Amino acid sequence: MYLSLPWILLPLVSAVKHPHPDDIVDGLKNAVDCDSCQAALLAPLKGLAELGDSAFVHTLIATCKAFKLEDEDVCVGAITEQGPILGHALRRISPIGKTAAKLCEGLLSLCQPPPVTQYAVPLPAAAPAAPKLPVSTGKQPFQVVHFSDVHIDRQYAAGSDANCKKPICCRDFADEAKPPKEPAGPFGNPNCDSPWVLAKSMLEEISAHHTWSIFTGDVVEAAVWLVNRTYSEVTSDIELFNKALGATLNGPVFPAIGNHDSAPVNNFPLDATIGFDGAQWVFDLESSEWAHWTNDTAASEERHFSGSYSVIAPGTDLRIISINTVYWYKQNFWLYDSDTPAPDPRGILEFMVNQLQAAEDAGQRVWIIGHMPPGSQDVFSDQSNYYNQILQRYHNIIAGQFFGHTHYDEFEIAYSDYENRRADTAMSVAWIAPALTPRSGNPALRVYDVDPDTYEIMDSKVYYSDMQNPEYQTKPEWKLYYSAREEYGPLVDLAPTAPLDARFWHEVTEAFEKNDTAFQRYNEFMTRGAHVQSCDAACKKTTICQMRAARAEK
Ligand SMILES: *[C@@H]1O[C@H](CO)[C@@H](O)[C@H](O)[C@H]1NC(C)=O
Ligand SMILES: *[C@@H]1O[C@H](CO)[C@@H](O)[C@H](O)[C@H]1NC(C)=O
Ligand SMILES: *[C@@H]1O[C@H](CO)[C@@H](O)[C@H](O)[C@H]1NC(C)=O
Repeated sequence: MYLSLPWILLPLVSAVKHPHPDDIVDGLKNAVDCDSCQAALLAPLKGLAELGDSAFVHTLIATCKAFKLEDEDVCVGAITEQGPILGHALRRISPIGKTAAKLCEGLLSLCQPPPVTQYAVPLPAAAPAAPKLPVSTGKQPFQVVHFSDVHIDRQYAAGSDANCKKPICCRDFADEAKPPKEPAGPFGNPNCDSPWVLAKSMLEEISAHHTWSIFTGDVVEAAVWLVNRTYSEVTSDIELFNKALGATLNGPVFPAIGNHDSAPVNNFPLDATIGFDGAQWVFDLESSEWAHWTNDTAASEERHFSGSYSVIAPGTDLRIISINTVYWYKQNFWLYDSDTPAPDPRGILEFMVNQLQAAEDAGQRVWIIGHMPPGSQDVFSDQSNYYNQILQRYHNIIAGQFFGHTHYDEFEIAYSDYENRRADTAMSVAWIAPALTPRSGNPALRVYDVDPDTYEIMDSKVYYSDMQNPEYQTKPEWKLYYSAREEYGPLVDLAPTAPLDARFWHEVTEAFEKNDTAFQRYNEFMTRGAHVQSCDAACKKTTICQMRAARAEK
């Protein structure tokens, strides 16, 4: 989930441009266009960056404070950590080039995404003329747990104010009003990240399912203005969480790296660079921590491919390929530091292709797991396009794709032909898991029923803990929220033996178009029934469009 500079930058950049408070308000209301973003905003910001990081950071902090855009500690922390990365990028690019347009689009939504830079992902071999597709013999499904975005706040303080002005509450902040307006309960609050006791309760629920799991990233909390480059917090958060996984779960867990699992947040440079170490320390750390569930080959892959790895799931012929998607993320400012960005930063796509080819050669099926769904709007459309090329080539052996990051319980469908998005062109589905953190709905996780021959998903059951339950703050109760098969199967006359594949999900989107009651239930499920956002006809159209957009470009 993104929670970083833009919430400060948007008003801040306007402030640099228009030095009067009234103009700022006007500037915000009449959102500037792409041309003015580049010429009138990025050009002066670049000029400021040329004066050096210290001048750049101090000016931005002074502006943030002067206009009270955030509390002072938030201004100082966020800009001190992220400002130098942005300054570095601005110094290296033209304010009127394609990368600058991406910056205006990715950070401020003031440009259209520039057209995809054409690039043919190198593929080692053509698809087999007659692919051998596995056939289900109707065996009893086995279960796999999928959990995501735990965002554990080790400084969560029960009794502190849950209703504060900062991006994250429920901590003993020095400038907090006393007595607290809304004392935080021990098991969490919608304005806060997860207290440890909530994560512990979730791990106990997972262990009750007696099976292995996938975890699609984001261990660290989102008080991003405090997570600094001493790495100490991120390191200890990651170590404590992995240790708890090892101690509590009674099956292996296969994780993926999230954008919050570095310091400062989203800080994944392409290489070590002046003043920044790169993120190799994260990959080295996870490589040794995850060795608990993987093997030496995977541990070495994690060190060499930015945390990506491939393993065979226990007792199966299923290859899990875990990829680091953070090098495709619009909030990773390091990716804006060149007018000719690399098509495959850190070789993640190449790693994926090699692993898929090896799986095809070995007659295995594959699950891809990662943090950000490549169809999500905060992914560069370039890398989304390249990822889609890989899907087109290898979809026959890909039995599922699993992501997190959005914090919503949702789905994205990939098509063999994006001009004709129909049930018969639906090709693969990305399963996007709900989050644990109460910040985005009731805490939840998924349990899949998996066909042991095809490794396709036969059912997806969401378990949740309802924060409205009067017992919640004493002991969260986990229970079945809904079964996707029971909920949506009848809408599309699903055959009893058919999997919940891409065709099924496409048909579900068609049912949603006709049946608003069914769609509104989906909308409610997205946040597990807590602070449900109302969704009118226009919103419904966008939501369904997003479900049909595993490739992000327009
Ligand atoms: C970084 O964060 C730690 C823990 O919050 C804090 O003790 C330390 O003073 C911070 N260091 C800097 C340079 O801000
Ligand atoms: C690790 O597992 C993979 C997949 O099963 C296998 O190909 C590889 O040889 C294993 N490596 C070691 C060192 O056991
Ligand atoms: C519409 O969806 C609701 C909720 O899933 C369901 O109960 C109802 O039967 C559906 N109506 C039709 C005509 O399919």
